Amino acid sequence: MKKLKVGIIGAGGISHCHIDAFRQLPDIEIAAICDTNQEKLAFVAEKFGILKRFVNWEDIVKEPVDIISICSPNAFHAQQAVAALKSGKHVICEKPVATNVEEAEMILETAKQTGNKFMVAFCHRFAPHSQFMKKMVDNGQLGEIYYAKASYLRRRGIPGLGTWFTTKKLAGGGPLIDVGVHILDLVIYLMGCPEPELILGVTYNKFKSQAVDGGWPPLWSRVGDKPIGTFDVEDLGAGFIKFNNGATLFLEASWAGNSETGLKIALFGTKSGVQYSTSLHPPLRIYGELNGVVTDTTVEFPSVNVYNAEIEHFVNCVKNNTQPITTPQEIITVIKIIQNIYRSAETGKPVEF
Ligand SMILES: NC(=O)c1ccc[n+]([C@@H]2O[C@H](COP(=O)([O-])OP(=O)(O)OC[C@H]3O[C@@H](n4cnc5c(N)ncnc54)[C@H](O)[C@@H]3O)[C@@H](O)[C@H]2O)c1
Repeated sequence: MKKLKVGIIGAGGISHCHIDAFRQLPDIEIAAICDTNQEKLAFVAEKFGILKRFVNWEDIVKEPVDIISICSPNAFHAQQAVAALKSGKHVICEKPVATNVEEAEMILETAKQTGNKFMVAFCHRFAPHSQFMKKMVDNGQLGEIYYAKASYLRRRGIPGLGTWFTTKKLAGGGPLIDVGVHILDLVIYLMGCPEPELILGVTYNKFKSQAVDGGWPPLWSRVGDKPIGTFDVEDLGAGFIKFNNGATLFLEASWAGNSETGLKIALFGTKSGVQYSTSLHPPLRIYGELNGVVTDTTVEFPSVNVYNAEIEHFVNCVKNNTQPITTPQEIITVIKIIQNIYRSAETGKPVEF
């Protein structure tokens, strides 16, 4: 079989996970890489032996590669994805898809028109507990899901303090669009992508004066980075979302706060409930009923490299011409909720559709 050639846009922390994952697969060649930071470009290209190197992303898009993997700051995702799709490439793009709904729609429209594959790299979908919960939903074991909670909290974990991560015009926001987007996507996927009807959002920035860098991207990967010092995004964001099927979701995400640290997802169903929590041992619990008595079942999972699973899935979609796991409707719903939590937080009023 012909080798699939891959180009990487953005040689930062997450690119190492993408490149490692592509390299595990047969018939794949990482042919080119680009980054605006020349030192980092050289560092990553040398580490992985990538021959073609570009400083301008427009140049890598013109290369004869089959797949483009977008690992750049959020604000560049849309223009890079659209250009790559238009020049005949299949695109896997890091989360969030973009910084607003308009940009996301532009990408999806281009994917539709060109027929090229587009996937958002929502790696949490590939965790065994996520797929386990998805099977429970699909097999009707939860019944009707009418309430859900999703929480991704860090106590002191601001990524790239003073870099694009904490700059609104480059990131689109703080923890809500950075890590909240992962669990929001997972819950939207599990709940069957209901349509939001009403969104109430709040954001806070209480740690500005005592902000501590959380260590992502890994320090060894920050070669040649020059922080600009901006921190104009929230450090905690939360939203309450009512869907048109009557279900509701409470979502919260923080980079800093005086709270527990961890990730939690709870689905309340009419037949049973399920909760995944990084602070539970084992991490997944099913709240059920047997012979009229309430029962708890705990479930343990083998550890899986979710980045490898995600990249393998995307490559298989390209090879077999199948739809990637992230559907256009889910992609739009997720960014629509994030954007409108921010809008509601700004105006102090709920957003109704
Ligand atoms: N899926 C996950 O678990 C996960 C984890 C971390 C980051 N991410 C996402 O991956 C993306 C990158 O994050 P990161 O942690 O690697 O950040 P990073 O800062 O380590 O890397 C970003 C890189 O992009 C480069 N860059 C900046 N502008 C560019 C441009 N116009 N064209 C090309 N390159 C450009 C920077 O020089 C930097 O090297 C973000 O969208 C982030 O949300 C996803």
